[in-house]
This record gives sequence, C-alpha cells and structure tokens, in this order.
Amino acid sequence: MAMIAKQCPDIQVHVVDLNQARIDQWNSDTLPVYEPGLDEVVREARGRNLTFSSRVETAIRESNIIFIAVNTPTKSFGIGAGRAANLEFIEKCARQIAECSSGHKIVVEKSTLPVRTAEAVKRILNSSAKDATFDVLSNPEFLAEGTAVQDLLKPDRVLIGGESIEAVERLAQVYGRWIPRERILTTNLWSSELSKLTANAFLAQRVSSINAISALCEATGADIDEVARAVGSDSRIGSKFLKSSVGFGGSCFQKDILNLVYLCEHFGLREVAQYWEQVVTMNDYQKRRFSERIVRTMFHTVSDKKIAIWGFAFKKDTNDTRESPAIHICRDLLEERARLVIYDPQVPEKQVRSELEAYFQDASGRLSDTHKGLIETNVSVVKDVYVSALDAHAIAVLTEWDEFKKIDCARIYEGMRRPAFVFDGRNVLDRKAWLDQGFEVHSIGRPGIT
Ligand code: UGA
Repeated sequence: MAMIAKQCPDIQVHVVDLNQARIDQWNSDTLPVYEPGLDEVVREARGRNLTFSSRVETAIRESNIIFIAVNTPTKSFGIGAGRAANLEFIEKCARQIAECSSGHKIVVEKSTLPVRTAEAVKRILNSSAKDATFDVLSNPEFLAEGTAVQDLLKPDRVLIGGESIEAVERLAQVYGRWIPRERILTTNLWSSELSKLTANAFLAQRVSSINAISALCEATGADIDEVARAVGSDSRIGSKFLKSSVGFGGSCFQKDILNLVYLCEHFGLREVAQYWEQVVTMNDYQKRRFSERIVRTMFHTVSDKKIAIWGFAFKKDTNDTRESPAIHICRDLLEERARLVIYDPQVPEKQVRSELEAYFQDASGRLSDTHKGLIETNVSVVKDVYVSALDAHAIAVLTEWDEFKKIDCARIYEGMRRPAFVFDGRNVLDRKAWLDQGFEVHSIGRPGIT
C-alpha cells in the first residue's frame, strides 16, 4: 500500500488495523518491520496520501477499492488442523465491509487464500450488504521479504483475477502507473488464487530439490554449489532458487504448501497431495539432518558445550523469524542440553526467546518447567558476533547475513575451544580461509574437512 501511495500521489491510501499499537509503530520513526528501503517509501507518502489508523469503518466508507490483507495462518484446531488455512479473519473483514458500505466497491483479496475463497467472500458481501454492490478481485502478492521494495517497484508480473472486466481494468490502471502493461496479467478468479499457491509451491520445491541433492553430495564427495551451478546453467532450469540451505522458512512456503495439500485431499486427489507434501517432509529432514550432523561430528555429545548460533531470521535482510529453520535447530540442540549463544543483527532477544518458548509448548500451549528452565539457563542472546564465539566449541551459521562473509576468522579462532568446529548451514563463509585458519569446517552439501 505504501508503494501504491508513493507511485500514485493523487490516490488516497488508508491503511487500517484493529491493533492500535501496530498502527502507532507505522506512524512512528521505527516501523514494525525491518525491510531495506521501506522507511524511505513510507516517509515520502505518509501524511501526504498515506495514512495509518484504526478507523476501520471510516476507511471502508470512504474508499472505492478495499484490499483485504489479513493473516491466513494454518489452522491449529478443528477440521483441517495443521493444514487448512484459517479464514476467520477474511470472513470478519468481509462482514465488516458489507456492514459499512454503500454504493459500489471493489474488494480485492490480497491475502493468500485457498482456491474458491472469492466465492465465499462474494456471498458474505452480497448477503449482508444493506445498500451496496461489490466486485471481488484476486490480486495475490509475490514480493519476497528483504527485497520487497525492489520487487514492488519492478515486479516480474502483477496478477489480477476477476469476473468483471471493468473492475479488473480499474485495478490494472493503478498498477499501470509504474508497471508496463504487458507485465499485468489478468485471469479468472480461480486461476489467480491457485497461481499464488502454485508459485510458492514451485519455489519451495526447488529449495527442497537442491537440499535433497545436498545430502547425496555429503555422502559422495560432490559439491552442492558446483552441482547447482552446472544444473542452473541450463536455461530451461535457470540458476535462481538453487541455493542449498539448512531448510526454507518464512511464514509462507510451508503454510501455502500444506494449504495446497489440503485442497487436493478435499478434491480427492490423494497422489497430488502426497507429491506436494513431500516438499515439506524433505524440508523437515534437512533441518533435522543439520542438527544431527552437529551432534554426530562433535563426538556424539553437545551436552554443556557452548555453540554460537549465527543468524536467527529465516533469511537475510529481515527481522522476521516465523518458521525460521533456526528455531528448529536451536530446539534440537537444546534438547541435547547444549548452551547456545545466539547472535542476529536484526532480531531482538525478546523475539528469540518467545519463538523458542512457543516451539517448546505442547499441543495445549503449555511450556514444561524443564523446557522453560532450559531456555532460561542455556540460551543467551548477544549483540556482538565476536562475543558470541568466545569460549565456544562450535559455530553454526543459520542465516546468510552478508556480514558473516567479512568476519575476521583469525580473531574468532583465537577465542574458541579446540577443535574449533564450524557448521555452515548457508555456505556463506570463505571455506578455504576458515580451513587454513585451523577450523574444522562442515558445510551443507560438502563432505566435512579438517
Ligand atoms: C516467498 C516467495 O519468494 C514470494 O514470491 C512470496 O510472495 C512470499 O513467499 C509470500 O508468499 O509472501 P519469502 O518467504 O519472503 O518469499 O522469501 P524467499 O526468498 O522466498 O525465501 C524463503 C525461504 O527459502 C528462506 O528461508 C530462504 O532462506 C530459503 N531459500 C530460498 C533457500 O534456502 N534457498 C534458495 O535458493 C532460496
């Protein structure tokens, strides 16, 4: 919305949310998300044609086009728990829009939704509206965190699905102010909804594919980065999204694939469901494999050993930790009674602790005294990467922050126990330099070398 406001100064954009604390942050100098370049975009438009408030009803009344951009997390209860999307917030929005609207409104689904959700939204709008008419469009978002501003400025494509040609055209004109028309694709509603889930499933599948091969590389002596380069040089395959890692994270990939799996099952397509579910299974395997490799390599015990964790965000250039592989690996290592010293340039201590606590909770949301105690005594969070490695037995690199590439490995080596183990879960360190320094380096997709 900030980008629309920036690019179209004559369009008034009102961002509304029930969470006043969050709105206050959007109105302050410290935005609630860390995203390179976003501060400038917001600063340019805020107060001119971009407002943030909790006046939901007024905003609905005053707007011609309404974007619904609420959470659609995986359901944690009832039918479809653990797979289906929770559509509670979408439905509440649709009801509120229906109640406050008059005249004609275009309602745009921006949230990622299961196929045919637009049908439900339409029914709710039309059955509860007093004196208003609606067109419903699907306009999924394809930006990635960390590169959001560039992705919005120069998207590969914008997708608009809808039945009404006029409504589709109206939204296309907004994007058309800065995006070439040939990049604005229009489809029917269901294709648009399904394309979003499919795009994320394909991307996640590439990561799981390369990660699957990384296990084979470790077993055979092949090098995953060399394999990725050779494979990705085929223009039919392409080189992007072939970076082997400790596993994919983020709020979208797993949620969207599970949602796709649930849809397939719903339509009786068992083999299709199983096919996509394997992408998530492989990702879980990759995370588990990494922590097991750490334990196995360190003489089958990490109990009471100090391990520096470099990076807690699910990828670089974001402070988002939702579904971060780091949470899983830290949990595995804590279960083995390791002492963790966590460093991430953007993630605050409070967030690290609450993620770990949430992950240790049982199904009824209870945190056992043992786990609470473990997080209190065995986890510390520091603000200096060099401090994190002092007296450590090992380092585990879990996020590919650029600053890790420039670290003075001699300085790190001086302060560490021997043998000094490094487990590079993102293949970002200069392997030769670290080996020459005396480290025992274990990288994803390469056999360990001392
Ligand atoms: C993803 C999609 O890339 C966006 O197009 C989509 O709009 C977004 O989800 C969404 O649905 O909201 P995002 O999750 O922000 O974006 O980040 P990605 O760059 O896709 O990375 C996802 C995860 O895959 C990260 O943990 C990343 O480290 C991992 N990854 C990515 C790899 O391990 N290897 C790669 O080669 C690429």
